[in-house]
Amino acid sequence: MSDDNVAIVSGAARGMGKSFAERLSAEGYRVVAFDVDETVLKNKAFHGLVADVSEVDQVEAVVREANKLGVIKVVVNNAGTWRRTPVESPWEQAISDWDYIMDTNLKGVLMLSRASIAHMKAAGGDIINVSSYYVLPAKSAGTNPPDTDLYNASKWALNGFTDAWAKYLDEYGIRVNGMCMGAVDTPMLRGLYSDNKLPDEMAAVVMNADDISQQLIEIIDSGRTGENFGAWVGEQISLGDRLPLHRRITG
Ligand SMILES: NC(=O)c1ccc[n+]([C@@H]2O[C@H](COP(=O)([O-])OP(=O)(O)OC[C@H]3O[C@@H](n4cnc5c(N)ncnc54)[C@H](O)[C@@H]3O)[C@@H](O)[C@H]2O)c1
Repeated sequence: MSDDNVAIVSGAARGMGKSFAERLSAEGYRVVAFDVDETVLKNKAFHGLVADVSEVDQVEAVVREANKLGVIKVVVNNAGTWRRTPVESPWEQAISDWDYIMDTNLKGVLMLSRASIAHMKAAGGDIINVSSYYVLPAKSAGTNPPDTDLYNASKWALNGFTDAWAKYLDEYGIRVNGMCMGAVDTPMLRGLYSDNKLPDEMAAVVMNADDISQQLIEIIDSGRTGENFGAWVGEQISLGDRLPLHRRITG
C-alpha cells in the first residue's frame, strides 16, 4: 500500500470509531479521525479533529485536512446517535428526535461521503457505512425494536446510499459497503443499561470493537462492493459468500 493513503473515520473518540481509526492507522493509513467529543484529540494513533458530521462547513474542513495529508482511499461513516423514539411520543418530540438522529446518521453520511468522493474518483477506494443488525433480517428474534422507529429508519436508509453509490461509483473504482452488526461492547451499548453494566447474558456473547475492525479490513481487502455484511453475536464473524444481486443489500 502506498504510504500516503488516507482514511477518514467519523465518531472516533470512543467505541467502534476509535477502534476503526486505530486499526487503519496500524495498517499504514494516515488517518484523519474526528468527533464532537474533544477526547478524540488525545489519541496519538491518528490525526484527531473536533468536528460535527451534521455540519457541512465542519465536514468540508475535515475533508480538506484529509486531502492535504495524501490520497483519500477510505471513508468510514461510523458516527451515529441512538435514542428511543416511541411511535406515540409527542409530536414536537418526534420532530426533535428526527433531527437528532437523521442529521448525524443520514445527513452526516451523505455530506462526508459526497465531500470525499470528489477526491476519491482518481484513485478509487472504499466507503463503509456503519449500519446495524436492525437492517439485515436478523438471525435472532431481537431485531427492529418497536420503540426505535427513527434509528431503525436511519439505518435502513443507509441501504439506499450503499446500493446507489456502489452502482454509480463502480466506474471510478470506489466500492461502497455496509456493516450491519449485532451487539458490540461500546459506550453506546452500555448506555442502554443501568450503571453502564452489561447484563450477564449479554456480556457472555457481546462482540468487541476490535473484531469488527478486523472485519472492516477484510471488507476493504476483499474488493467486494454493494453489499451489507453482517456480524452476529455468538457466531464466527466472516464475510460469507457473495449473495445474488437482489439480496446483497437487504439480506
Ligand atoms: N454498539 C453496538 O452494539 C452497535 C450495533 C450496531 C450498529 N452500531 C453503530 O455503530 C456506530 C458506532 O457506534 P458505537 O456503539 O461505537 O457508539 P458510541 O456512542 O459508543 O460512539 C459513537 C461516537 O460518535 C460520536 N458522534 C455522535 N454524533 C456525532 C456527530 N454528529 N459528529 C461527530 N461525531 C459524532 C460520539 O461522540 C461517539 O464518540 C453507530 O453508527 C451505531 O449506530 C452500534
